[in-house]
Amino acid sequence: MHISQLHPTFLLLLATIITTHALPTPSETSVNLIYQFPNTTWIENLAVRRNGDILCTSLSAAAIFLVNPFEHTEERVLQFVAGNGVLGITEIGDDIFVAVTSQVNLMTSEAAAGSAAAWRIDMKAWSSGRENFVTLLANLTQIGLPDGIVSLPSRPTTILIADAAKGLVWKLDTLSGNYTIVIEDDILHSSNPFLPLGVDGLHVIDEYLYFTNLGDNILCRIAIDKHGNATDEIELVATMPFPDDFALAQDGTAYVVGANQLYRVSPDGVVVVLAGGINDTTLEGVTSAQFGRTREDAGVLYMGTNGGLLAPVNGRLIGGQILAIDIEQFI
Ligand SMILES: *[C@@H]1O[C@H](CO)[C@@H](O)[C@H](O)[C@H]1NC(C)=O
Ligand SMILES: *[C@@H]1O[C@H](CO)[C@@H](O)[C@H](O)[C@H]1NC(C)=O
Ligand SMILES: *[C@@H]1O[C@H](CO)[C@@H](O)[C@H](O)[C@H]1NC(C)=O
Ligand SMILES: *[C@@H]1O[C@H](CO)[C@@H](O)[C@H](O)[C@H]1NC(C)=O
Ligand SMILES: *[C@@H]1O[C@H](CO)[C@@H](O)[C@H](O)[C@H]1NC(C)=O
Repeated sequence: MHISQLHPTFLLLLATIITTHALPTPSETSVNLIYQFPNTTWIENLAVRRNGDILCTSLSAAAIFLVNPFEHTEERVLQFVAGNGVLGITEIGDDIFVAVTSQVNLMTSEAAAGSAAAWRIDMKAWSSGRENFVTLLANLTQIGLPDGIVSLPSRPTTILIADAAKGLVWKLDTLSGNYTIVIEDDILHSSNPFLPLGVDGLHVIDEYLYFTNLGDNILCRIAIDKHGNATDEIELVATMPFPDDFALAQDGTAYVVGANQLYRVSPDGVVVVLAGGINDTTLEGVTSAQFGRTREDAGVLYMGTNGGLLAPVNGRLIGGQILAIDIEQFI
């Protein structure tokens, strides 16, 4: 991993190479509202259950909600102590999830030192009586700001955690609660003084870990082994404004959200804006994306938003939303 030496060059180039292509008519009507939360509800991340329900983490409400995308209904699954915002969420076993929390100042994105923690959420237990379905796995006191998390396909009870503040990827063994740094490189840090959040979204396909760096406007990937260790150097896949989280298709196409837009990044790095726009309210405050998992919504990409809480578009502030777009229309 010697890409760090190249990093300053990337930065100089970024100003000129961030060019995205809009599709001829990205129709606003192609984005459908599934559910809208009350004002100031910041939806940060999504995980889809096998039955199609969407688990939605909230940074502002310190809660996890469940949205049924077919019925357009919502229910609060879990409420943490106020101030403990919920960030990444991933499935580590059949209907068993891990979510990370941290005390985050929403306006500055700064996390209180030592406040991060990882929780195990057994949705099977929740469905059958709602008792003893949540356990504290670990106090992640060394992690700066846990953001995106992903379970390792070859060892699902081990998760990787993006530390957006410290610019690191950690590995957490959810069985023991032990965690260590697994990927360390300058390219995981934000070099943007106005947006000090680096590595953000994490997803794995085949032997590649893909990640965004929000402050530095990049999507990268790195080959990893079954333990999550890097086996090669980091590769730059594409550049785009403020890439937050994303969903990865089987062929390596990334559907990245950020800057009020949905980008499609093909495996060869071509970026196209599928929906939204920097000053457009269609995808205002979009933070996260996940594919549907049932037969009925397999081609649907769900997106979570913060409703413009951080950066209202034209002063518009609404509650966080769950939106849906049919991805197959673009294929
Ligand atoms: C986490 O920290 C709390 C408060 O300090 C403590 O009560 C708890 O036992 C810790 N849990 C773990 C799993 O380390
Ligand atoms: C977890 O860490 C502790 C302390 O370093 C160590 O004794 C233990 O063997 C580790 N457990 C696993 C399963 O790695
Ligand atoms: C992963 O890499 C670290 C050093 O970066 C090394 O200490 C560790 O043994 C490696 N783990 C495995 C399972 O290869
Ligand atoms: C968005 O709005 C800002 C402020 O009004 C303006 O400076 C900027 O050029 C606009 N960007 C686009 C892509 O329309
Ligand atoms: C949400 O906030 C906006 C802006 O402050 C306000 O115009 C709107 O009425 C609020 N909506 C609700 C349902 O309170």
